[in-house]
Amino acid sequence: MNRIKVKDLLVSQNINAEILAKGWVRTKRGNKSVAFIALNDGSTIHNIQVVVDLNTISEESLKSVTTGACIAVRGQLVTSQGKGQAVEIVASSIEVYGTADPETFPLQKKGHTLEFLREIAHLRPRTNTFGAVLRIRHAMAYAVHKYFNDKGFCYIHTPIITGSDAEGAGAMFQVTALDLNKIPKDADGAVDYKQDFFGKATNLTVSGQLEGELAAMALSEIYTFGPTFRAENSNTTRHLAEFWMIEPEVAFNELVDNMNLAEEFLKYLIAYALENCKDDLAFLNEMYDKELLERLSSVVSNDFQRLTYTEGVEILKNCGHKFEYKVDWGTDLQSEHERYLVEKHFKKPVILTDYPKDIKAFYMKLNDDGKTVRAMDVLFPGIGEIIGGSQREDSYDKLLARIKQMNIHEEQLWWYLDTRKFGSCPHAGFGLGFERLILFVTGMGNIRDVIPFPRTPQNAEF
Ligand code: 4AD
Ligand code: MG
Repeated sequence: MNRIKVKDLLVSQNINAEILAKGWVRTKRGNKSVAFIALNDGSTIHNIQVVVDLNTISEESLKSVTTGACIAVRGQLVTSQGKGQAVEIVASSIEVYGTADPETFPLQKKGHTLEFLREIAHLRPRTNTFGAVLRIRHAMAYAVHKYFNDKGFCYIHTPIITGSDAEGAGAMFQVTALDLNKIPKDADGAVDYKQDFFGKATNLTVSGQLEGELAAMALSEIYTFGPTFRAENSNTTRHLAEFWMIEPEVAFNELVDNMNLAEEFLKYLIAYALENCKDDLAFLNEMYDKELLERLSSVVSNDFQRLTYTEGVEILKNCGHKFEYKVDWGTDLQSEHERYLVEKHFKKPVILTDYPKDIKAFYMKLNDDGKTVRAMDVLFPGIGEIIGGSQREDSYDKLLARIKQMNIHEEQLWWYLDTRKFGSCPHAGFGLGFERLILFVTGMGNIRDVIPFPRTPQNAEF
């Protein structure tokens, strides 16, 4: 007999059919004559109720069927006599695959804190909360690919090990095969990377953008979706050292097209979640954040507010709110500033554009004022920056000048500069932090709780 998933059993019309279900026991309760087991197999947030007549199956043989145990249940699917479910299983036999000693099983009791669950990240997928988050995360990854595939974008796999630093911002994780106890040195006493695996210094990528641009200048519309790594020591609720990023790059797009794409894309993803993750979102709305569903719907149905960085700074300087960090034209906005604009001032997502060139990466297109670049950050309620992007500098001379001004090793970027030498074109793109999207969609408060195994400073246990 084939196993039927709990999700399918719960809506099955096959009343009285003999079925086989498998999963993990959430709870067992009952009395002298009957036992009720709530069974979950991760296919849905809901459990199926298994009713055990203790005349058919002895109480003794149910001893090892405790919370956390894994079992196979054969029986009949019947219309439920109790409240709360349409159908239930009347068991004819139960096989125990794996027991879970109630004395030591960490999830024996309900109601653990999210902090505690982080310490048992190997078991937390068995909770309702993480089941919901992981199913939503899957649905969002699928929706990303569906959105771009439907629009004719080509998915490009960019390298994880690179020799370049796309953002020039935070620290990077070095990749080496050298023996760290016997590091070869050159004549000047510096590390001799010529003797390393690749014959040069390499690191884990901070972004697939630069390679994505190469592909866009051949295939027109591309996107990347892969892991990225940043060794910055930021211990916040919105930073990971290893996170996933989605980076579309489009030839012939200018800044306004880039904004339109970002807004349409985010709305599509959120609408997809509302349509396809109803049960999990209802659970999270009930348990963690009573305004979650309302907030998601409001983002889908309202236009994002678009304004320049300069206009944003004016609003922040004149708003009378006391910020921890002072705002001045030329400084990077802190998340308190971003969130003020989104949550207090406009009360909807904001796209800030045309930032000062000195606080942005080398590849952004310089505006005619010579001071600002065609950058755009999308700011979301409760999150701050969810997307960062720009129109790219397509003039060889201007790009080279910028690389020199910023003391970037131009010899490491010769291939990138080549695209501006041969068939250059206007183009634009952005990066969506996948975990920041999942934070927003699930309403969870900490980015460590929306990725199965978070990598943060001092934490890579699982
Ligand atoms: O703004 P960022 O640094 O932009 C880039 O990397 C560009 N190359 C993207 C592009 O234009 N193709 O990062 C993009 C997004 C941020 O807006 C944020 O959502 C997310 O990536 N992000 C992080 N998410 C989690 N942890 C971190 N440490 C993150 N750093 C950036
Ligand atoms: Mg950014």
